[in-house]
Amino acid sequence: MAGPKKLFIKSYGCQMNVYDSERMAEALGAEGYVSVGTAEEADMVLLNTCHIREKAAEKVYSDLGRLRPLKVANPGLKIGVAGCVAQAEGEEILRRMPLVDLVVGPQSYHRLPAMAKAVAGGARAIDTDFPAEDKFDHLPERPAPSVGPTAFLTVQEGCDKFCAFCVVPYTRGAEVSRPADRILSEARALVEKGAREITLLGQNVNAWHGGDGGLGRLVRDLAQIDGLLRIRYTTSHPNDMDDGLIAAHGEVDKLMPYLHLPVQSGSDRILKAMARKHTAAQYLDLIGRIRAARPDILLTSDFIVGFPGETESDFQATLDLIEAVGYGTAFSFKYSARPGTPAAEKTPVAADVADERLHRLQALLSRQQKAMQESMVGRELGVLFEKPGRMPGQITGKSDYNHAVHVLGDAALTGTLQRVRITRSDPNSLAGELVPAP
Ligand code: SAH
Ligand code: SF4
Ligand code: F3S
Repeated sequence: MAGPKKLFIKSYGCQMNVYDSERMAEALGAEGYVSVGTAEEADMVLLNTCHIREKAAEKVYSDLGRLRPLKVANPGLKIGVAGCVAQAEGEEILRRMPLVDLVVGPQSYHRLPAMAKAVAGGARAIDTDFPAEDKFDHLPERPAPSVGPTAFLTVQEGCDKFCAFCVVPYTRGAEVSRPADRILSEARALVEKGAREITLLGQNVNAWHGGDGGLGRLVRDLAQIDGLLRIRYTTSHPNDMDDGLIAAHGEVDKLMPYLHLPVQSGSDRILKAMARKHTAAQYLDLIGRIRAARPDILLTSDFIVGFPGETESDFQATLDLIEAVGYGTAFSFKYSARPGTPAAEKTPVAADVADERLHRLQALLSRQQKAMQESMVGRELGVLFEKPGRMPGQITGKSDYNHAVHVLGDAALTGTLQRVRITRSDPNSLAGELVPAP
């Protein structure tokens, strides 16, 4: 008798894709698929793709090209494309890539088992609907016997903001919030299976409206779960940071002092052209209110340089905003024109100018990151240990401020929250020593 069918999923892009990949593996698990670690071993390979920048989308086609020899060697191998490229390009993928058997958009994952059956019978299958039903209501209860110390939980999907550069409203559809009771029961199940930290996910997570009181209320309800030690959430939009959520940062101990609040640019002219619907001054005022509630909060952001029409003085305004805020770390990207978005119609900034600005911006952000990490040296912080470190006898975890921390210690500490004195700042992590319990 043939053994179970083997599934390999590769995730690109954001954490919501990581979460979706887990849910897809679980849905196919109910159909007898077991997950394996490489495409070479698999009977089905799913690429869970990202469309946010041109490079991300191109990577998918080059990875598909690399799967061709596997399919030649094993004609029974089924290849699927899921995620945001699947949504954006749909039929085009089937046309361009004859080796692809299945294309499934982000809102249709609950239909994957039926599609896998059709594909096993030799058909090619495509589903890029935005179905009226919610995929989460139709995906199996999360069956994993155990989960790691940190888990993702999607609470909100989609986006109605239509920033001029962004594909997400087209690939993920309109904003939808999952109901509070579903989220709380999934969180309880994750904690029973070993999760100690939960990161709530959404393309606009703080626009969550699946219950009274918004995300601030949800955070307070989650904090009541025994055994759950830490709560984080990402990604937030500045215009959805309401007073209830800001207050939670000051009052809920389990809510970590860390906030990713993308601003994209510090120039009002560019913010307007991006349709971000706030000014630099409004963002700085918001940061002030958040810091009043939680003075030590570590802030991070995303930046786009070289948005169409960006002048040197617009760019300088971005550098000024970064100086004014002082970020713990940040992601920065060169603007990438995306088909179908309003900004793609505009004249781009010359590539060498954009490159040079990105370089200056990243230099400033690295200086801030280094200074922030160095400010941790000598402090005693909570660290939730997640896994063995790279060196023997070492374990690795995250501090309250989300820095990776390496410590000499027993692997048995995995999944526990310990006090650690930070002794050194390295380029992308901290080193520390366990503080003996009093
Ligand atoms: N919902 C989040 C962003 C999700 S996309 C928010 O509103 O902040 C993640 C990041 O990718 C964005 O914050 C932006 O900095 C970047 N990004 C999105 N579209 C881009 C594009 N066309 N070119 C370059 N960077 C882009
Ligand atoms: Fe994209 Fe803007 Fe929505 Fe974020 S808020 S996902 S950048 S459209
Ligand atoms: Fe990419 Fe889609 Fe996430 S475009 S960033 S995978 S929502």
